[in-house]
Amino acid sequence: MRKNIVAGNWKMNKNLQEGIALAKELNEVLTADKPNCDVIICTPFIHLASVTPLVDSSIIGVGAENCADKASGAYTGEVSAEMVASTGAQYVILGHSERRAYYHETVEILAEKVKLALANNLKPIFCIGEVLEEREANKQNKVVEAQLASVFSLSAEDFSKIILAYEPVWAIGTGKTATPQQAQEIHAHIRSLVAAKYGKEVAENTSILYGGSCKPTNAKELFANPDVDGGLIGGAALKAADFKGIIDAFK
Ligand code: G3P
Repeated sequence: MRKNIVAGNWKMNKNLQEGIALAKELNEVLTADKPNCDVIICTPFIHLASVTPLVDSSIIGVGAENCADKASGAYTGEVSAEMVASTGAQYVILGHSERRAYYHETVEILAEKVKLALANNLKPIFCIGEVLEEREANKQNKVVEAQLASVFSLSAEDFSKIILAYEPVWAIGTGKTATPQQAQEIHAHIRSLVAAKYGKEVAENTSILYGGSCKPTNAKELFANPDVDGGLIGGAALKAADFKGIIDAFK
């Protein structure tokens, strides 16, 4: 059966010392009171090598927020999937709307990143979601379907390593959250697309996380939906107490 997961996306926040302090605090809090779900923290590249040995890997998984679409070579400033994996990280967020919008990551580029991540034993947390105009035009189902093309070229075996995250762009960092009903509707649609492509069993085993202004106060209601298997958390992942509050939605 699929896993419930709460993953944090630190984005471009926390210098190295602050990141180490947050990881240590979270590790202490979750060691003392064990979570009822998988917990992942996705940090900037520079934190990975310091954070992975600090946390109990049986409680907290660590991931990057991106990786390069090339394996290695003369790509100044890029960080490869192999480099990410060599830090001990096990996950990588790919396809976040901020990367699609500000760094022009296309379906094709993301397909390459996904392949490289999997080749290096990283589990992609693959993000999809529509912008406000698309939601207002009721095009969200079509939008997520088009975005899924980056992972729908995978074999069923490889696809089963993917975690999906639905993040409506209009809800990210805005304080606006999808209603539990809106989240359930589109998560069920996403699962039906996976079922059509890979069959019911793969679809039932795929974790689909919700992201967008998820907080301790709304997490329980969102995660109570049958097709919402946890959350990908931005702002509220930057404080151990808030992140723990969301994790506790599964208690
Ligand atoms: O990837 C997480 C994200 O984009 C949601 O951010 O700050 O709205 O929780 P936030």
